[in-house]
Parts: sequence; structure tokens; C-alpha cells
Amino acid sequence: MRIVSGIQPTGNLHLGNYLGAIRNWVKMQDDMAAQGGQSLYFLADLHAISMPHVPAELTANTREMVAALVACGIDPERSILFNQAQVPQHAELQWLLNGTARMGWLNRMTQWKDKAGKNREGASVALFTYPVLQAADVLLYQATHVPVGEDQKQHLELARDIAQKFNNDFASEENPVFTLPDPIIPPEAARIMSLRNGSAKMSKSDPSDMSRINLTDDADTIMQKIKKAKTDPEPLPSEKAGLEGRAEAANLAGIYAAMAGTSVEAVLADFGGEGFGKFKPALGELLVETLAPINDRFVHLRADHSALDAILKAGAEKARTLAIPTLDKTYTALGLVRG
Ligand code: TYM
Repeated sequence: MRIVSGIQPTGNLHLGNYLGAIRNWVKMQDDMAAQGGQSLYFLADLHAISMPHVPAELTANTREMVAALVACGIDPERSILFNQAQVPQHAELQWLLNGTARMGWLNRMTQWKDKAGKNREGASVALFTYPVLQAADVLLYQATHVPVGEDQKQHLELARDIAQKFNNDFASEENPVFTLPDPIIPPEAARIMSLRNGSAKMSKSDPSDMSRINLTDDADTIMQKIKKAKTDPEPLPSEKAGLEGRAEAANLAGIYAAMAGTSVEAVLADFGGEGFGKFKPALGELLVETLAPINDRFVHLRADHSALDAILKAGAEKARTLAIPTLDKTYTALGLVRG
């Protein structure tokens, strides 16, 4: 088994990233270490330039994200932790896959539609071809499993489509060039929603900081954000069906379940009939309990730039070694002569 996943270094890690993806990364890193498999986690800095950005902020955010991932439990000795920009094979494979990806496939991507909005003509080409780079990210390493949140499922399906078409067109069933990767999406935390709007996902790009819990928030801030989180006047139901049409209540119950490592049903069995005046402080304390040690480690790690750069450099060296055989195979399959 080989696990591969990535995150854009465009701001703080938030609770959606943590519960939707990073917690699974840590778990799978430990599983892989026990089973002799491999885990590769990277900062998608090349993806980050698909939207307007400030270069100095990207540099600072890249280092901060390494510190945050290590603080969450990613161990650079057991996982390969790196950034795309130091492994040119990602961009190279993307170009090769551009011959296989279809305009129609990319036009259907919801992220493209959301981010380009009405101004498609003014969107960057990188935003359009973004999912092809994402396919290259995982196909380059013959990933078998990709732990992500629900919002990345469509991109992963596209990666499978690209792999399948490439194998059909340029290889054989007995000797495929690419492995078809399976997404791994956590059931209770597939989609963590904004604290201000239960129908929008929790996101780094939401202008309101009150909409998300950052992994760098201190205890008071977390308690405040949960206290102010949007809810409705009804008490919590005792059954999951009672959350229907109550997006904000469902989100908070889901966050509680994911944090406590239990199911929404079990949370409602405990809190059904209680109002948010009782539930919110319990949720806030649960969050503080788990996030405070991560925050402590993060504050300690983030200052040591040379240690963070050394982690990325060593990770990139290992990643390049793993990437080269697949890239070579791809060039050959396409009939490209390289001396
Ligand atoms: P990014 O940086 O937006 O998010 C990183 C991971 O966090 C998950 N996530 C969420 N999960 C649940 N609820 C939320 N509100 C939430 N917000 C974010 C995402 O699903 C993701 O798993 N395109 C990717 C990065 C990427 C990638 C890849 C991922 C580039 N190449 C290859 C996997 C494989 C992105 O922008 O994720």
C-alpha cells in the first residue's frame, strides 16, 4: 500500500483540514509503518499559484504548514514530507497527462466552477488544469489510497479517469503505467461546515475568522468561536433523523462525534433534549483538550526555519527517487525519445 495526499499552504490549518484529512494522515502513517507500506504527504505549493497570491506569504505559509503538520503528528522519519516545488517530476508528469485529460472533464469540476465564478475568461489557466496536476501528484507515486475530505472526491475520480484512459491508450491491462487510487474519506468528518453558515464548508478562504477553528487558536478563542457559532433555538434531537434541515446543529454534532472518535448517534444519545447552552461548552472543552497540545508543539516548531527547511529538503530527495521510475515509464509509453 502507498498513501499519498496533499494540502495547499495557503493559510492556517483549520478544523476541517484536521478532521477531514490530517488526522487520517497520521493514522495511516502509523498503519503504514506497522505494515511496511509507505506514506507521502506534501504541500501543494504549485497548486497555490492557481489563485492570486503574495510570494512572501506563500514562503511563510509553506514553513508554517510544515510546522503544523509535524505538530499534528506527521513524523518526517516515518512519512515522506515535502513540497511539490522541490520535486519537478510533479509538473513534468502534469504536462504529459495534459494530453490525456479532456476539456469536458475539467469543465465539469465543481471547484473550477466555484472558484472561476462568472469570470471564467479572467481565471488562470492553472486554475483550470489544477485537477491534472492533482492527478499527477498521486499517479506519480502509484498511490493506492488517498486520504481526503469529501470536497476532493471529484478530483480523485478525475485522477482515476485519467489513469484509466492513459492505461487504455498507451499501455495494456497486464502492464499498466498507473495504479488507480482509492479515496479514503472519514465518515463523521467528510465535510466540516462553517460555524457561521451550515451550508458552506469550513474554509481558509472564508473572510470571517469566526467561521472556522484554526489549529493555532488559543483556548479562549476556541471557546468564543463555539459560543458564537450559529445554531437554532431548538434543543438537540435524540435521533439523527431529527437533524434533518438543521445544518448548523448537524455540523456541531458531527464535529463533536469526530473529535470524540464516536458516532453522531452516540453524541445524540448523550445530549438529546439538551439546549446549546449546555452542548456548546462541552464541545468547546473537547476541542481545547485536543488542540491545545498541537498548538503548543506548533508554536515551538514554527520558529526554527532551518529545521523546517531541512525536513522539506530531505523529504523531497526521497520523493524524487520514488517519482523517477513512473515518469520514465510515462515518457516511454508516449514514445518520447530522451537519449
Ligand atoms: P486543501 O488544501 O483545500 O485541503 C486539505 C485537505 O483538507 C480537506 N478539507 C476538509 N475536509 C472536511 N471538511 C472541510 N471543511 C475541509 N476543508 C478541507 C480536503 O478535502 C483535503 O483533503 N487540492 C487539494 C490539495 C491537493 C491534493 C493533491 C489532495 C493537491 N494535490 C493530491 C490529495 C491528493 C486541496 O486544495 O486541499
